[in-house]
Amino acid sequence: MTKKLFIKTWGCQMNVYDSARMADVLAPLGYRPVEEPDGADMVILNTCHIREKAAEKVFSELGRLRQMKDRKAEAEDGRMILAVAGCVAQAEGEEIVARAPFVDMVFGPQTYHTLPEMVAKASRAAGSVLNTDFPAESKFDFLPEEADGQGVSAFLAVQEGCDKFCTFCVVPYTRGAEFSRPAAQIIAEARRMVAAGTREINLLGQNVNAWHGEGPAGGTWGLGRLVRALAEIDGLERIRYTTSHPRDMDDELIRAHAEVPQLMPYLHLPVQSGSDRILAAMNRKHSADDYRRLVDRLRAAKPDLALSGDFIVGFPGETDADFAATLKLVSDVGYAQAYSFKYSPRPGTPAAVDGAQLSEEVKEDRLSALQQLLNAQQVAFNHGFIGRSVPVLFDRAGRRDGQLLGRSPWMQSVHAEANPRLLGRIVEVRVDAALANSLAGTVATVDGAVTAGGHAPSPSFQLAQTLEASA
Ligand code: SAH
Ligand code: SF4
Ligand code: F3S
Repeated sequence: MTKKLFIKTWGCQMNVYDSARMADVLAPLGYRPVEEPDGADMVILNTCHIREKAAEKVFSELGRLRQMKDRKAEAEDGRMILAVAGCVAQAEGEEIVARAPFVDMVFGPQTYHTLPEMVAKASRAAGSVLNTDFPAESKFDFLPEEADGQGVSAFLAVQEGCDKFCTFCVVPYTRGAEFSRPAAQIIAEARRMVAAGTREINLLGQNVNAWHGEGPAGGTWGLGRLVRALAEIDGLERIRYTTSHPRDMDDELIRAHAEVPQLMPYLHLPVQSGSDRILAAMNRKHSADDYRRLVDRLRAAKPDLALSGDFIVGFPGETDADFAATLKLVSDVGYAQAYSFKYSPRPGTPAAVDGAQLSEEVKEDRLSALQQLLNAQQVAFNHGFIGRSVPVLFDRAGRRDGQLLGRSPWMQSVHAEANPRLLGRIVEVRVDAALANSLAGTVATVDGAVTAGGHAPSPSFQLAQTLEASA
């Protein structure tokens, strides 16, 4: 009998990847994903602990789910197994069990391969199963192969955990020590994904560029080498990786940006602050000028590289001058897109007990000033594409009928009227308009009406033209 599985995911892309892997582990037990929690046989909340609000949402969600669980029991429709996974489970497992005893399973990110045992235990006994171990074995050696059809653009975890201990961050505690999967395992997974239709792979890791995996013939590889090996897979058209730490950006990886055409010209390279004093207090172990020089080297290797970043405003002790240095760095670097956050004190992290916490008001003001600057940069970046032709990998249906949505090499979302058969293909699209967070365009047509931007048509472009013409 098939059972209904609902997974709700918060947090980073690693959590999105993990949710897909949990579904893979549960598939042999008869669980099939559904879109709604109501009536489901299992509900998993895959949680994030990175900022305060993220954790609070879990408890409010649990209240709602408890009612659904009770309704299902009253209707004698079987039992809803309710589970909390992810980083809140890891950090606050015992508190969840105490505060929400109706939760059946609470387990951390390194235990997903043991889900069948946990489910068996939870089905047998009353009370919550709690598992927040960091097992000696790697879950990657035990997780089943991913289900076919991960999508045109898909994630592949290559590295997990973090040894850097930035003073604001919970990740080293919730994900554990840094771990790199062996190259052969990653390449095999990538081949299977491509055979099942994936065209773009986004390599994931909390510190993805710190990846140093065992090479297929022994020795240790760095990420640049892995990217080159993946680029040899026939049919894999695009490679990306995220998230990188400035200190781990080595020459080999920078060279890969210059030399591997499948490696997309977009890099998420968080700097957090532009003030050396704050960077030191954050334990980032580099200066603002180190970051500027790194960006210069990257742009020398790949002149059209689009940069993205993360910023924290209102870190304890941050002065107006420190914040001005952040604005200055943003102006100097120029971002295509970026994320910015108010500092949120996290239990167990050193910065949380720093006496110099700032008021919510100061954080709010600084965040809005920073976001204004970043938004202006994003708008300018996107406007620069109007009238140009860009190769878009269509990876999903658009919001409106007859539209497809995809990404440019520079990670912009692009939507256009397009035949559904163009899904999964790279198509030249002329950009007509730049909206705040996306581009709107027109698919190039056979009559040659669209050539602005002057890219030489690639084979997939010609194929796309043929498909459009026959549509
Ligand atoms: N490994 C990545 C970041 C992972 S967390 C790196 O080192 O860059 C994602 C982002 O969340 C961080 O880059 C940071 O900007 C933000 N963040 C992490 N902890 C935070 C906190 N306590 N308060 C506010 N933002 C935080
Ligand atoms: Fe967190 Fe720093 Fe590790 Fe990134 S590098 S995950 S911010 S501790
Ligand atoms: Fe959140 Fe854990 Fe990712 S805290 S950002 S889900 S590593």
